[in-house]
Amino acid sequence: MKRRKLLFSLAFSASLAITTLAGCGNQEAATDGSDGESASKTLVMATSPDYPPYEFYETAGGEGEPIGFDIDIAKYITEQLGYELEVSGMDFNGIIPALQSERADFAMAGMTPTEERKQNVDFSDIYYEAKNTIVTKKDAGFDSFAALKDKKVGVQLGATQQEAAQTAAKEVGGFKIEPRNKISELIQEVKAGRIDAAVVEDTVAKGYVQNNPDLELSTVENAEAAGSAIAFPKGSELTPEFNRVLEEMKTNGEMDKLIQKWFEEYYEKSGQE
Ligand code: ARG
Repeated sequence: MKRRKLLFSLAFSASLAITTLAGCGNQEAATDGSDGESASKTLVMATSPDYPPYEFYETAGGEGEPIGFDIDIAKYITEQLGYELEVSGMDFNGIIPALQSERADFAMAGMTPTEERKQNVDFSDIYYEAKNTIVTKKDAGFDSFAALKDKKVGVQLGATQQEAAQTAAKEVGGFKIEPRNKISELIQEVKAGRIDAAVVEDTVAKGYVQNNPDLELSTVENAEAAGSAIAFPKGSELTPEFNRVLEEMKTNGEMDKLIQKWFEEYYEKSGQE
């Protein structure tokens, strides 16, 4: 599948001018209120489409709708529950504020349910587990946090990787943490040598490394769990509904099908492993 490969490379290629999807902001997020009458309601999902294969744009220009693992899960769940789905793209750091101000009904962005976040939003059950990696230039020799002492280490602003890097920096005697809004910017800066490494989740890092042969990755141990869950405004009535469908997806094979599609077949199609 040539086209897939091209699209995938484009999605990973650096300096993606990812723009916010139209529809965010001026559209009223559907909230609870009228119970039962869910048939024609549109749910707005906040996401940060810089995270292949979870969510990303197929084109370098960022036009069209984001696709990916999270988007397919969201489509399945909303369809099962009789809602329409609208996907609203934004920086990762803007997702929790979007939920708090009810500009979105839920969020899926490979988001880890941390204790800190739980004070501001509710989470579904975890639907996928992940590990962190360090992405560096090939043969740079930075295969652990210890090797990065006094170096520059990039992280996505507001992501759990920022905290993981802070903890590691203390443990190894210090390095400079460089937060950026988008994963694509981090990758670009590693390639350009402006930062020495970026801390990125394994499934996502794997795709970028596959498409950028000048990069490599090393897996690091997570201090805390790093799974993904769906986030909701506090007290949302959607949380139990979504959990019910997530559970169904785990038992009826749908989740395995999507894991297979986005974490296995997708890499095989898009690179030569
Ligand atoms: N799992 C990490 C977190 O929750 C990183 C998620 C980043 N997601 C994204 N779409 N960029 O903080």
